[in-house]
Amino acid sequence: MRPDALVTDALDEPAIGAVPAKTVYIETFGCQMNINDTEVVLARLSEAGWTRVDSIDAAGLVLYNTCSVRDNAEAKVRGRLGALKPMKRARPSLRIGIMGCMAQREKDALLKNYPHVDLVVGTDQFVHMPQLLERLDETGRVAATDFGDFEDRAWDAVREPGANAYVPVMRGCNYNCTYCIVPTTRGREKSRKPELVEEEVRRLIDQGFVQVTLVGQTVDAYGKTLGDGSTLAKLLRRLHEVPGLKRLRFITSHPKDITDELLDTMAELPRVAKHLHVPAQCGSDRILRLMGRRYTRDDYLRFVERARARMPDVELLSDFIVGFPRESDDDFAQTVSLMEQVRFGGAYVFMYSPRPGTPSSHLPDDVPHEVKNARCTHLLSLQVKHQAEFNSAQHGRIHQVLVEGPSKSDEAMLHGRSLGNLNIVFPRSGSDGADRDHLVGSIAPIRIDRSTGLTLFGDLLT
Ligand code: SAH
Ligand code: SF4
Ligand code: F3S
Repeated sequence: MRPDALVTDALDEPAIGAVPAKTVYIETFGCQMNINDTEVVLARLSEAGWTRVDSIDAAGLVLYNTCSVRDNAEAKVRGRLGALKPMKRARPSLRIGIMGCMAQREKDALLKNYPHVDLVVGTDQFVHMPQLLERLDETGRVAATDFGDFEDRAWDAVREPGANAYVPVMRGCNYNCTYCIVPTTRGREKSRKPELVEEEVRRLIDQGFVQVTLVGQTVDAYGKTLGDGSTLAKLLRRLHEVPGLKRLRFITSHPKDITDELLDTMAELPRVAKHLHVPAQCGSDRILRLMGRRYTRDDYLRFVERARARMPDVELLSDFIVGFPRESDDDFAQTVSLMEQVRFGGAYVFMYSPRPGTPSSHLPDDVPHEVKNARCTHLLSLQVKHQAEFNSAQHGRIHQVLVEGPSKSDEAMLHGRSLGNLNIVFPRSGSDGADRDHLVGSIAPIRIDRSTGLTLFGDLLT
């Protein structure tokens, strides 16, 4: 953002006309589903003659694809909108649009509270973005937030090139965890037909992707709404046979929907990653009940046993919420002990944030911020300890690594993922100086020789 664009006495500057109308600047917040939705919007807009630009100054339209999952995600967008106010005053032709979960949650209220916002587009309507923008030209301001069907052709996306492509296989969520805004912002669960998923996967392989990650809020519930006996296990079997696909992964799973059929299938199919992201949220039955999670601590531990019995090296990832209403020291101790019992390969820890209109928002948010913060730090440091111990135990082990490209933190290294989705880094050239970039997109055997807390380092086995 150019600071002088924020000065209101730029009013008379002939900025208008300098920026082509069909240029869009888009910023994405939130989860993988939102990242994919952005790619879908860009695909629809590019078909309609729009170009993406990477600065607000060069854009005729600014779009924020928003997240509502915690208040801090929404606060970022409120901040962005505040900063745009003087820009819009200086350049009235600038269009401002909000899409994603915040748009769905607040609907018309956003237009009312932010007079400089032109467009509010919900989590299903964004596939019609070009048409909505035309309507905007006619009517001045537009809100479109109805939930729609899974209209498959319109969900094609244009992706950043790379080794891995994310493919949404379901939208929405049929659970009602009491803290969660997602069922409100994303609506009821809708699965995508297996033949259409396969068609997209084949197209992606043709484009050069070698790994596919299937995405859904509760991806292990895939197929229930299709009513034809479809399950995630069957979908994995089907996609596993697509020629050229080197690895297949899926996120995120709900503990209640992990069937033996799914675990058996994962164990059997060699190209399916031995990796499960299954949020436990907490380890206390009393809090799990208040969260409406529909499983007990014991159920969760049994799932871990079932998974490890079939796949001894399976990597388990979890999310945790600390400071849920009424969470006592004893409840928290149960979460710590769950973490110690399971020893996760990775964990995301969040401080509870009451979301407007959710059932838990009616309970007093009674765990003080300092306590939430301390519990968060405690779990994170425990996780770091577990990961560091796990990583040291990997020294000398050989992993089959799908090489993704140069490491972001060190150009002299390549990085990739093991079958369990561990992040593994190794030199970009051999001891003879030979370049190894040709390995990108293929699977290479790497022997681990050292590690830091969160990353494994090794070298190519020759
Ligand atoms: N659908 C996924 C997760 C969706 S949201 C699933 O159920 O597995 C991602 C994570 O955000 C959740 O797993 C939860 O840990 C966290 N989260 C959701 N609502 C929250 C809230 N109100 N406050 C804090 N964290 C929250
Ligand atoms: Fe939210 Fe629960 Fe659905 Fe996950 S399963 S999206 S936490 S309601
Ligand atoms: Fe956020 Fe919506 Fe995803 S609330 S986490 S962007 S589904």
